Amino acid sequence: MLTTDSNIENYILHHIDSEPDNLYQLYRRVNTELLYSRMCSGHLQGRLLKMLTRMISPKQVLELGTYAGYSALCIAEGLADDSCHVDTIELEDELEDFICRAFDESPVGSRIKLHIGDAMLILPKLLEATSYDMVYIDANKRHYVEYYNLLIDNLRSGAFILADNTLWDGKVADNEYHKDAQTQGIIAFNDLIANDERVEKVILPLRDGLTLIYKK
Ligand SMILES: C[S@@+](CC[C@H](N)C(=O)[O-])C[C@H]1O[C@@H](n2cnc3c(N)ncnc32)[C@H](O)[C@@H]1O
Repeated sequence: MLTTDSNIENYILHHIDSEPDNLYQLYRRVNTELLYSRMCSGHLQGRLLKMLTRMISPKQVLELGTYAGYSALCIAEGLADDSCHVDTIELEDELEDFICRAFDESPVGSRIKLHIGDAMLILPKLLEATSYDMVYIDANKRHYVEYYNLLIDNLRSGAFILADNTLWDGKVADNEYHKDAQTQGIIAFNDLIANDERVEKVILPLRDGLTLIYKK
């Protein structure tokens, strides 16, 4: 994957929009205060999420897997105005204060509502109340198929799903890794999407793989 080459990644980062200061500070705090900082989107993926949001022009967005709030803030930045809104779900309640501070310190944080709990439990309730135009799947890799199955019939024709980590460090195409549960979860998801005639799909080899899915 091109973006694993650090020279190319540096080149790209110097030729795209710069990272807003609040996100630069947030990324630094993630690396000093949180475990598993690698999960945080960062500069390139964040700018892509903002751009994709601009292109899709959603009114209502749903994110599964908030972590530090970085990706939710990038999506919120790409929204047309304050009438548009992001619901984001995070399992770990010890992240709540960290996430709320990040939202409070951002000019677009008020566009986001954080839901603490298991996406599998919260998702059906949110889907009953809201018609989402765009969904970003980035929670438990073992459950991507279940998330998708809950979502797909509840989204309107023309809605988009973006699913992160769908190349899983290349493990999806490496027979040695086929037994671990997260790799199996992603492989099952990729196979499901590949064979689902209800959607158009493309995989971008950016970072860990990003699948763009369009409901026909
Ligand atoms: C890859 S991180 C999200 C990164 C974030 N979207 C970003 O791009 O900066 C995945 C997050 O999903 C959360 N998660 C895992 N299982 C979950 C579940 N069942 N429901 C909600 N969140 C979950 C994890 O706690 C973790 O914070």
